[in-house]
Amino acid sequence: MVKKIIGDATLYLGDCLEIIPALDPVDFVFTDPPYGHNNNDGDMIANWEAIYGGKNKVKKVEESEYRPIANDGIEANEIYKQVLPLLEARLSRGGCCCCCCCCGGGGPDPQFARWSIWMDEVFDFKQMVIWDKGPMGMGHHYRRSYETVLVGVKHGGPVKWYDNTRRIENIIRPEACGKIIPQKDDHPTVKPVKLSNIFIGLHSRPGEIVLDPFMGSGTTGISAITMGRKFIGIELDEIHFNHAVQRITDAWKSKPMLFEETQEPIYKENDMFGEK
Ligand SMILES: C[S@@+](CC[C@H](N)C(=O)[O-])C[C@H]1O[C@@H](n2cnc3c(N)ncnc32)[C@H](O)[C@@H]1O
Repeated sequence: MVKKIIGDATLYLGDCLEIIPALDPVDFVFTDPPYGHNNNDGDMIANWEAIYGGKNKVKKVEESEYRPIANDGIEANEIYKQVLPLLEARLSRGGCCCCCCCCGGGGPDPQFARWSIWMDEVFDFKQMVIWDKGPMGMGHHYRRSYETVLVGVKHGGPVKWYDNTRRIENIIRPEACGKIIPQKDDHPTVKPVKLSNIFIGLHSRPGEIVLDPFMGSGTTGISAITMGRKFIGIELDEIHFNHAVQRITDAWKSKPMLFEETQEPIYKENDMFGEK
């Protein structure tokens, strides 16, 4: 296990199932585990990259150029089930676990349904947020133009919620976030920084600790650091870990030095709209 500290970020190279139990409490989790789709293992993403992202502008991607994600087969389900109680044990009162989870279909269907049920067995399942990526997604029938983010709250306390506009929907519109078509040098399933910005802003305050146990190339860490949070990231794959170190170092160097405190949490449990 390697530990690297960059300003307010602490990054671990290793298996999150082994590292999480030794962590101090955290305030918020935003994560993007392997979905179990065998992404970039000769699938559509690999070919998409080859056509749009890489040096192979016209030819089909060669097997030697596949970039499979660790634990992205059927074992992803077991890892997801094992990590949830570890995260719940580390979260402080009212803390949320926001977990990216696939796109309705594709891979071992229906992943979003079973992952929601498994989340509810450990957390108080709050919402399945749709991230509308805009046209046109991958696939043939019902092209995949959205992904989901599952939101669970630690039992025993009102959810930490830092918005008082009452206008936050359970759909993230394309103009709020957009999408990324990964290039050859990107993580194969890199997420937009604006996506993690949204959830970090809603569920944590400056100075609090954000954890991403499947950090990939460090997108959540960039959000956390630039929004004045502390960050803990864990990644199994050394290539992605080194990429995260580079991106978070750049973010730390360019971050503004002062952050304004946000308002106190607005607890919405059992409010007049019946939200949990
Ligand atoms: C879907 S990717 C995350 C991508 C990330 N959101 C980004 O923007 O770069 C999931 C990551 O989890 C990592 N991973 C898989 N199993 C892991 C484990 N047991 N512990 C830590 N990381 C793991 C994979 O190597 C992969 O980079």
